[in-house]
Amino acid sequence: MVLGESVFKFEEAFARYIGTKYAVSVSSGTAALALSLIAIGVNEREVITTPLSFIATANAIVQAGGIPTFSDVSESDYNMDPKQVRGHLTKKTKALLPVHLFGQPANMGELMEIAKSRGLKVIEDAAQAHGATFGGKKVGSLGDAGCFSFYSTKNMTVGGDGGMVTTDDEDIARSVSKLRDCGRISRYVHDVIGFTARLNTANAAFGLVQLRYLDEWNERRRAIAALYSRLLKGESQLALPPRGDKRIAPVYHLFAVKCQRRDELAKYLGAEGIECGVHYPLPIHLQPVYREMYAYAPGAFPISESLSSSLLSLPMFPALSDDEVKSICEHILGFYRGSSG
Ligand SMILES: Cc1ncc(COP(=O)(O)O)c(C=O)c1O
Repeated sequence: MVLGESVFKFEEAFARYIGTKYAVSVSSGTAALALSLIAIGVNEREVITTPLSFIATANAIVQAGGIPTFSDVSESDYNMDPKQVRGHLTKKTKALLPVHLFGQPANMGELMEIAKSRGLKVIEDAAQAHGATFGGKKVGSLGDAGCFSFYSTKNMTVGGDGGMVTTDDEDIARSVSKLRDCGRISRYVHDVIGFTARLNTANAAFGLVQLRYLDEWNERRRAIAALYSRLLKGESQLALPPRGDKRIAPVYHLFAVKCQRRDELAKYLGAEGIECGVHYPLPIHLQPVYREMYAYAPGAFPISESLSSSLLSLPMFPALSDDEVKSICEHILGFYRGSSG
């Protein structure tokens, strides 16, 4: 069943959860981003985003026919830095694409001010931040559109690939609905070049159930983050994730610590059966394809580059027990103690 009842029920429930008038489901987070950018008419214009993200953030700009322009992140939240964004604005800038990295909302207050003063659109990449808030509002409801991924590692999933666009803008909602469905205005009549990018009905039914548990799972992630922070805060060779300002409530998609001798620590923990992740070993501008297409070289975005070589994502999922967190922390502290003494 294509575009069955569950699809519309899931969209309705998700829009209600995020607090937008519309939610349009699509086949992935990448499709959510690309179709939103096409819907705002990005057309060979520049979109400013962060190099410290999953590559799909920038790929979506290219897929939508735009030009990705990177702006380095802030040390204070690892997200797009409004001060630096100002230096990248040109006559060709069409939109800002902040990412709420690791479930930590970007500084939407200042970014929205910049956008308003320059007549730019803002597309939020909320692929890692279902349920996170900025100023009491859910991310995905602050810009012109919010884009979510339901890839299986995310805070909620749909039992396969999937994505969602949230918006208050009827034109964007209508345009994304059409673009995901072959550009059709009726069964065999099409007035734009569209895509086959619908969310499967069975996946939507799965998502509808997952959504009911999202707040509970996010609470558990917050409790795990608080425990990690309490147990690791005295270790001088490691920096805890940024707290951010008081306006934000993160959802800890990942718990990434900035640490000395990152690769050695990851190897040590791996050998002890503690699987960690690295997000991301290469910032997007240093990915081979971006170096080749846009001639980027190391040194272009030093904060992102330095974070790429020092961030380690510790295990983070709601089913992680307090005892497991304690054991992980003991191993980390033991690693540093062993090497310093
Ligand atoms: C920040 C970010 N943006 C975009 C995406 C793309 O989502 P998807 O894999 O569903 O296409 C992901 C995750 O995969 C992501 O983490």
